[in-house]
Amino acid sequence: MLFSRFENRVQICMRRLARWSSRSAILLLGATAFLPCAHAEPADQAWLRYAVLNHEAARRYSRLPQQVVLLGDSSVLKNAQGELLRGVSRMLGRELTSHTASPSENAFVLGTLADLHAIAPALHPPQELPPDAYWLKKSRVHGHDCIIVTGATDRGVLYGVFALLSKIARAENIAVLDERQQPYAPIRWVNQWDNLDGRIERGYGGPSIFFANGRVREDLTRAGEYARLLASIGINGCTINNVNADPRVLDQAFLAQARRIADVFRPWGVRLALSVDLSSPKILGDLDTFDPLDPRVADWWKKKVDSIYELIPDFAGFVVKADSEGRSGPSAYNRTHADAANVIARALKPHGGVVFYRAFVYNHHLDWHDLKNDRAKAAYDNFHPLDGAFDDNALVQIKNGPIDFQVREPVSPLFGGLPHTNEAIELQVTQEYMGQQRHLCFLVPMWKEVLDFDLHADGTQKDGGATPVKDLVAGRIFHRRTGGFAGVANVGMDATWMGSPLAMANLYGFGRLAWNPNLTADTIVDEWTRLTFGNDPLVVKTIDAMQLDSWHVYESYTGPLGVGTLTNITGNHYDPGPQSSEENGWGQWHRADHSGIGMDRTVASGTGYIGQYSPAVQELYESLRNCPDDLLLFFHHMTYSYMLHAGKTVIQHVYDSHYEGADRARDFISQWKALQGHVDEERYRDILGRFEYQASEAVVWRDAICNWFYAMSGIPDEMGRVAKTPDH
Ligand code: GCU
Repeated sequence: MLFSRFENRVQICMRRLARWSSRSAILLLGATAFLPCAHAEPADQAWLRYAVLNHEAARRYSRLPQQVVLLGDSSVLKNAQGELLRGVSRMLGRELTSHTASPSENAFVLGTLADLHAIAPALHPPQELPPDAYWLKKSRVHGHDCIIVTGATDRGVLYGVFALLSKIARAENIAVLDERQQPYAPIRWVNQWDNLDGRIERGYGGPSIFFANGRVREDLTRAGEYARLLASIGINGCTINNVNADPRVLDQAFLAQARRIADVFRPWGVRLALSVDLSSPKILGDLDTFDPLDPRVADWWKKKVDSIYELIPDFAGFVVKADSEGRSGPSAYNRTHADAANVIARALKPHGGVVFYRAFVYNHHLDWHDLKNDRAKAAYDNFHPLDGAFDDNALVQIKNGPIDFQVREPVSPLFGGLPHTNEAIELQVTQEYMGQQRHLCFLVPMWKEVLDFDLHADGTQKDGGATPVKDLVAGRIFHRRTGGFAGVANVGMDATWMGSPLAMANLYGFGRLAWNPNLTADTIVDEWTRLTFGNDPLVVKTIDAMQLDSWHVYESYTGPLGVGTLTNITGNHYDPGPQSSEENGWGQWHRADHSGIGMDRTVASGTGYIGQYSPAVQELYESLRNCPDDLLLFFHHMTYSYMLHAGKTVIQHVYDSHYEGADRARDFISQWKALQGHVDEERYRDILGRFEYQASEAVVWRDAICNWFYAMSGIPDEMGRVAKTPDH
C-alpha cells in the first residue's frame, strides 16, 4: 500500500518506547557502578565495532605481522588499509605500520593480483578470481612471512580485509590461511526508500541519512559510514531514494548534489543509483509525452543519462516503479513494460549502467466481489508474456512473494517464468509487515526458504535438475548476463541505523546471503552475534537462538497458516486489523466469513494462481493432501473445522498458535535477562525494554486475532481461553 497513516496507536507505541528509554537511562545511572561490563557501546558501529579481544583470544594473534604493505593507491585500497589498521588497533591494541613497494619484514600485503604479481609472480589463487572475489593466503614473499589479501579488483581487496578482520573479531584460527571467496552474483544492492524531505517510506530508524528539506544533506558523514557497513558485507550498489520517485531527482541541480553522495560511497566500492519516475521526460523536460517509443523521449533519456555520467562516472543505474500503486507507466501509451525499461536501458548501455524494472505491478482497484480476481497473479501475468523482450542491461526486480512482503508467502512463480530475462530478487530488510523493528523478527530463515525453493523451472537445468530461486536470480540456470539481489534497507539517522540494534542482523544477513546464499541461517546469525556482542558463549548461544526463533514466533501471533496479512493494511501495517484487508480493491484478501477462511487459488475451483507454477510445484499446492499447513490458507479456502496435517483443526491451530506465540514472546524476556552482566548495561537495558514491549504487543495481537476468529467462526477454544475477559 502506498501511504501510511501515522496513527494514534503508533504514536502511543512511540511514547511507550520513549518512556522506557528514559526510564532505562535513569536505571542505568544507578546500575553502572555495580556491573562488570557497563561501558557504553558505539551502536553506530553495528557489526564493525572491533571490540577489544580478551587475553586468551588475543594470544592467537600475537604473531601477526607488524607491517602493512599496500600495493596501489586508489581510494578503495587506502580504505582497505585504513580498515586493517583500525581493526587491529582496536581489537589487539597494536599499531601497524604502513608501507608501499614490498615487505621488508613479515607483513600484511594488500593489493590486486596484478600488482601482487609484480612482487610475487609465483603466487596464484587455486582458481581464477572473478570481479569482487578475494583470496586470503599465508605465504612467504621476499623471504618474509606474509598474510596476503588480494583480489582481481580493488573492491575484492577491500572485501578480503573485512573478511580477515571478521575472523579476528570472532577469534577464528587464522594460523593456516588459504581462502578464496567469490560472490554468487554481480548484483548485490540495497534500495533506500528515502524522500527528499528527509522522511523514509517504511523506515523505522529515523530520518534520511542522505536528504533533509528537499536537498542532499551538507554533512554526509553517516552516508560514508553506511557505505562502509555495506562494503563489509559485500554490497556494491545503493539506490538512495524512494521507489515512489520524486521526478526532481533528475533535475540537474539535484544531480549535482547527488554527486556528493556518490563521492562518499566510491571509496567503499558502493555505486550510487537512483529511483526514477517514468514520466520524468514530460514533467522535467519540454516534452508533452513520456511515451517510451517516441524518439524525443529516447533522446531525452539519453541526454539526461549522459549528463549524469559526466557528474558521476561510476553511476550504477536506475530503479523504476511504473504502473503500480498510482505511479505513471507505459500503459498510458499502450506500451509494454519492456518498452519502458528498454528506452532507459539504451541510454545507460554505453556507460555500463543497468535498469531494474520492478515487477510489483498490480491493479489496486480490483473488484473484490469477483472471486476469480487475484492480485497474486499480477506479476506473472504482466511480465511472463514479455520474457525475452528486455534488453540485456535491464533486470526485472521481483519481490520474494506474489503479494507484498507478508510474514509467509509462497515464492513468486515469476522467478521461474523469465528464462530469457535478467532477474533480481527484492527482499525487504526493513520490517514493514514484520513488527517494524519493534518486534524481533530475524528474516534470514525466511529468505533461505525462498532462495532454496526449487521452482522446477523449465529449460536447461543444473546439478540434477534443481532450479532454486538463488540460482535463477543469479542467472546461473539460464546463463543470464547479470542478476542478483536487492534489499530494501531503509536505515536512518538513528544511532542503531534501523531503530533497533537486533534488527541489524537482517541487514547483515541480507548482505551475507547476497554474497553467498548457500550460507546457513545459523552461520550467519552466529557471525553477526559475535561481531555485535562478542564471543561470550552464553551470549552467543542465547542471542543466536532468540534470533533464529523470532520469525516463527512473530508469525504465530500475527498470521498463521499463510492466511496473509491480518494487520491493518489501510493504515500502519503494524497493528492487528484482520478486517481491513477485505472489501476493498487492494487485493490482500483472506476471504474470511462465518464458515471458513482463505483464498482459493487452485486451478480446479479458484483463481488459477497455482497454474502459474511448473507442474511439480502445482502438485505440491493444488491438492490438500500435499499442501503444507503453513501455506494452506494462502492456497485454499477452508472451513474452520478442517483438520490440518498437524492433527488439529484450523480454528484450534489459530487459537493455540496465538497463545503459544505470545508465551514465547514473553519468554524472550527471561532469556534476555540471563545475559545481564554479560553484555554492556546500556544495550542490556535497551533491549530488555524492547522485549517487554514486544511481549505486551504480542498479547494485544493474540487477543485481537483470537477474538476476531471466535466472532467469525462461533467455535469456542477447546482450552477455554478465548473471549474470556474479566467481564465474561
Ligand atoms: C509496499 C509498501 C509501499 C511501497 C510498495 C512498493 O506496498 O507498503 O510503501 O511503496 O510496497 O514496494 O512499491
